[in-house]
Amino acid sequence: MEKDNKRGQWATNIGFLMAAVGSAIGLGNIWGFPYKMGANGGFIFLIIYLALVSFVGFATMLGELTLGRKYGMGVIGTYRKISKKYEWVGWLGWLSGFFILAFYSVLGGFTIRYFFGFLMELFSGGAGFGGMDSGAFFGSFIVSAPMNILFHALFMGATVLIVMGGISGGIEKFTSIAMPMLFVMMLIVVIRSVTLEGAFVGLEFMFKPDFEALKEIGLMRVLKTAAGQMFFSLSLGMGCMITYGSYLSKNENLEKNAMIIPIADTSFALLSALAVLPAVGAFIYQGVEGVSFGAGPGLLFVTLHRVFSVGMGGFMGNFFGAFFYFLVFIAAVTSAISLLEVCTAYFIDKRVEKGLEPNRKKITLIMGIIIFFLGFPVAMDGLGSGVAGGAMIDIPATVFGMSEVRVAFDCWLDFYDMISEGVFMPLGAMLMSLIIGWKLKTVLIKDEIEQTPGYKMKAYNFWDICFKFIVPAAMFFVLLGQLDDFFGLGIF
Ligand code: PHE
Repeated sequence: MEKDNKRGQWATNIGFLMAAVGSAIGLGNIWGFPYKMGANGGFIFLIIYLALVSFVGFATMLGELTLGRKYGMGVIGTYRKISKKYEWVGWLGWLSGFFILAFYSVLGGFTIRYFFGFLMELFSGGAGFGGMDSGAFFGSFIVSAPMNILFHALFMGATVLIVMGGISGGIEKFTSIAMPMLFVMMLIVVIRSVTLEGAFVGLEFMFKPDFEALKEIGLMRVLKTAAGQMFFSLSLGMGCMITYGSYLSKNENLEKNAMIIPIADTSFALLSALAVLPAVGAFIYQGVEGVSFGAGPGLLFVTLHRVFSVGMGGFMGNFFGAFFYFLVFIAAVTSAISLLEVCTAYFIDKRVEKGLEPNRKKITLIMGIIIFFLGFPVAMDGLGSGVAGGAMIDIPATVFGMSEVRVAFDCWLDFYDMISEGVFMPLGAMLMSLIIGWKLKTVLIKDEIEQTPGYKMKAYNFWDICFKFIVPAAMFFVLLGQLDDFFGLGIF
């Protein structure tokens, strides 16, 4: 107990849930989910996504939380305790934390910039975005390295401050206020969005089973996109939930928590789609120029900016614009703190093991600074718009003489994302479930779950099949898809 207290512990189960759901809900939900769903067959994508959450998401969540609580350490310590042989799996997860947060924070910085932009528009009129049109503003903003770095710094600063406060005093306290607020704010935006004239165009786009798109893209590719999205969105495969699980007390019900988090995350992803797509649809219907569903990743910053500034316009547009980007910022920050905690926990564990004071503040600050610098290439290459576009660090045209690399990675963000989300995370999840299913055996999970006084595990056989077969097979498939994309093998 003494040791637990030194590392920190969640004060309440609801506080833990707020933190874990806060980690899961982030840019992945608000940015990734709506456009991926729209572009990959609408309703069909949704069904595939739900099936993946049910057969892969729940089990992986349960596995991570349980390993974390059982071994009581961050991701590296947990795998080391299982066996020295597996420690490297922990390192993969730990490194992913650095890479993801490095680009995540740059994007988080964008949300702060857009929030301030609309706020300034609201109060001073015309100054918030330099009088530019949505596309022009975005184009000029991303190539301004000093601006990107400034907002990246603000975002990292906020993240560091919260994590410095510790598990119950920082992360839990912040997320316990932020998450209910986020939910209410999201509901308000959804209501505004679906009541706009022409919103049905977006709803149709969202929910219509689009078999044509499916045929064109191919079922395999849609599956891969959905699986990748699910992993990132649930914060799985890199030890985030292992780390958060390690601060749980034996009194908390793991099986139930492992269901609640994915359900909350998925519901929020749907809410986000309901906030974004009907608004876009409405202004397509109303004939606002330059608004379309086809914007892909540009949806969050270019299209939505236009939705607020031109579509809604005036006071309402600026008000909802500021409100919405503040909401996205909050969602992003509650995810960023969980990423930073993964990186920080390793050193805290090491000190606690040696019987030293954890020194959380100092370690957090150092990790934050490292990640801040790691984000520089992302903040300085203008999201791949090329040296001519004003970027300061361009991806080299060839890497080790392979010119295909330039094609595979348009920008540093893609590169960081590919390493972490593309490879380390599916690999981590695959190895974890293989280790649980075949090496440690699912009974170990059962034993830990039943540490909760009076609790009996409910779905042993289901979890067993998931760990042994379904999760590894699904992850293998995702990895294959990545290799396919990267080397252009044409498998899918
Ligand atoms: N789940 C977060 C999102 O959807 C991102 C994240 C990934 C957070 C991995 C922690 C770990 O934005």
